[in-house]
Amino acid sequence: MCGYMALIDRETAQKIAATYGTPVYVYSEAALRRTAEEVLAFPAPYGFKARFAMKAASTAAILRLFHSMGIGIDASSGFEARRALLAGIPPTEISLSTQELPQDFADLIRLGIHMNACSLDQLECYGKAFPGTEIGIRLNPGAGAGHNNRTNTGGVSSSFGIWHEYIDRILKIAADYSLQIVRLHTHIGSGGDPEKWQQTAMLSLDSIDRFPDVHTVDLGGGFKVARMPDEKQSDLQVVGNAVRRVFEDVYRRTGRKLRIEIEPGTFLMAGNAVLLTRIQDIVDTGSAGLNFLKVDCGMNDILRPSIYGARHGISLFSDAAEEKSYVVAGHCCESGDILTPAAGEPEVLEPRTLPVPALGDLLLIESAGAYCSSMPAKNYNSFPEAPELMVRCNGELLLIRRKQTLEQIIENEVKDLAL
Ligand SMILES: Cc1ncc(COP(=O)(O)O)c(C=O)c1O
Repeated sequence: MCGYMALIDRETAQKIAATYGTPVYVYSEAALRRTAEEVLAFPAPYGFKARFAMKAASTAAILRLFHSMGIGIDASSGFEARRALLAGIPPTEISLSTQELPQDFADLIRLGIHMNACSLDQLECYGKAFPGTEIGIRLNPGAGAGHNNRTNTGGVSSSFGIWHEYIDRILKIAADYSLQIVRLHTHIGSGGDPEKWQQTAMLSLDSIDRFPDVHTVDLGGGFKVARMPDEKQSDLQVVGNAVRRVFEDVYRRTGRKLRIEIEPGTFLMAGNAVLLTRIQDIVDTGSAGLNFLKVDCGMNDILRPSIYGARHGISLFSDAAEEKSYVVAGHCCESGDILTPAAGEPEVLEPRTLPVPALGDLLLIESAGAYCSSMPAKNYNSFPEAPELMVRCNGELLLIRRKQTLEQIIENEVKDLAL
């Protein structure tokens, strides 16, 4: 789903821009709830838990909305875990899988947060701190599905998780500290293809016989969202049914009823928000050149196009009959601040055909719910962090994050230095 029309109409957009200014992130509560229901209906034969990968969008209101629907939290750092706690998420609803072992990990575990050891060293540290207890492990099962090395989370080019050939070493550490390995976690970002998910499930369960205490297998996230019309969205029922067959096979072979967990970030969020911006300037580079729409947001608000060549739908509220081809440029003083790159190629400009706008027209960057407001080149060029709004199911506008002030941008600088 790529259309903004389902999220906000022209009148709402104008009202939001008049009240809160631009740029502003706008989330649809109705759409978030619909997607959450879809995730919760994932077919799982022997128990199920969905967790929201909070790195995708970390604002408290979003975490609380999902939690109120029974969705837990996947935290990727100790700070994310603390942030979820501050948002009111109970510790037992939070699972921690991190690249860097948080310095306060022992305090987090004592609170009741579940941990997946993502390296042999993390497992050892956990064992020393909590011998004789239960733990999860994140495995790198030896295959990856990201579209490039920046998004790949499995296989030889990924540092995430414990390499699958090191199971003997995992078992040795577990034995040294009398640890019970009860959760097996893999996330290789399998995308939209049900066959790939089936393979992921098979890969993840390949070593299940070596972990007799495991009761839960977490397949991570990575469900595909169609951000552009030529992309195909995951159907969680189709994917889930492919996966369930693998778990049913394991049950028939071993008698073990393994619970499934998934951790979608993108799927829960991506299609459910837009970044509402205003066209500040319209320039061109001559008859053999390009037309540019310059908007009042940029890589300091939304970084995905600049780092991944990620494509987002672009829409204008316009009655103009004439269309032209435009590159949409962000407001940062950086030639890489481009909102219309070619797919997967941040260096390549790919103009879009759009109605001819007027200066000051509103422009929507669509599918801006995941890895957008939470992953900007924050404060670059000293632009403040954009506010975030939720359009409630009853149409009410709820401010969920205020616009940052200049004072907040500089608040940690040491003042009055004698220089
Ligand atoms: C461990 C883990 N779980 C879940 C996710 C969420 O993935 P996605 O946003 O693609 O669903 C990620 C993303 O990198 C991850 O590393």
